[in-house]
Amino acid sequence: MKKVTIHTLLEKKRDRQKITWLTGYDYPMAQMEEKAGIDIILVGDSMGMTVYGWDSTLPVTMDLLIPHTKAVRKGAPNVFLIGDMPYMSYQVSTQEAVRNAGRFMAECACDAVKLEGGREVIDTVKALVKATIPTVGHLGLTPQSIAMFGGFKAQGRDVDAATRIIEDAQAMEEAGACMILLEAVPPEVGKIVTERAKVPILGIGAGPHVDGQCLIVHDMLGMFEAFTPKFVKKYTNISQQIVEALKVFIEDVNKGGFPGPEHCYKMPEEDAQKLEEIFREK
Ligand code: KIV
Repeated sequence: MKKVTIHTLLEKKRDRQKITWLTGYDYPMAQMEEKAGIDIILVGDSMGMTVYGWDSTLPVTMDLLIPHTKAVRKGAPNVFLIGDMPYMSYQVSTQEAVRNAGRFMAECACDAVKLEGGREVIDTVKALVKATIPTVGHLGLTPQSIAMFGGFKAQGRDVDAATRIIEDAQAMEEAGACMILLEAVPPEVGKIVTERAKVPILGIGAGPHVDGQCLIVHDMLGMFEAFTPKFVKKYTNISQQIVEALKVFIEDVNKGGFPGPEHCYKMPEEDAQKLEEIFREK
């Protein structure tokens, strides 16, 4: 696979080819995603919920994300890799934001970082871009703000709320964002933002008109059972398949069907006999 860069993604937008984006949190999944030809992997703070089983993304820290992001880069050297700025890694000061974003670039070989928020993070986006860090905006349902939203709720569903998101997207682009992710907004909002933007607009629950589609890999593979957002399409039910395989293993062990001779290490016959004799006498 040829290395996916921001130019690849801009060309795809220009040529009206769809961009594909999944989350990934570890080496084997990253390998499979690159093998399948996914363009973008985000080591999302959604990991707090999908991998660590927490109720929200808020407890996720830089120190937790860094090793996972390194592992994903190792498994997928050619994808466009995005490091996800966790809660309170960029809100306190632009200096801290630049330092933390720099860790994703220097320690994990990321191609960009992503942060949540609209006009309130514009100065931070400018500071990151000034520090040569490509930055992806995230608008609409921004899970780090669930306390403000009162839960995981779709956004931009009336004219005022939609206008705010459309204006935020424009401000993000003007501040230098290289791409924008829209989450859980009506397709009408996705369409207007995409038509007005020169940078790629990706959607996770933003309808079909955006430049590409993003999903959380645990959702689309059927590996996250706590809840399923409306925008998720499950392409398989891997959890069920895994549980079936585990049950077969348990049954196999109990019945003596595993291990079979093909799973055992061989010893020369005469050594086996000698060993048997020595220990029979003891
Ligand atoms: O953390 C995450 O996985 C995200 C998704 C919305 C893509 O930000």
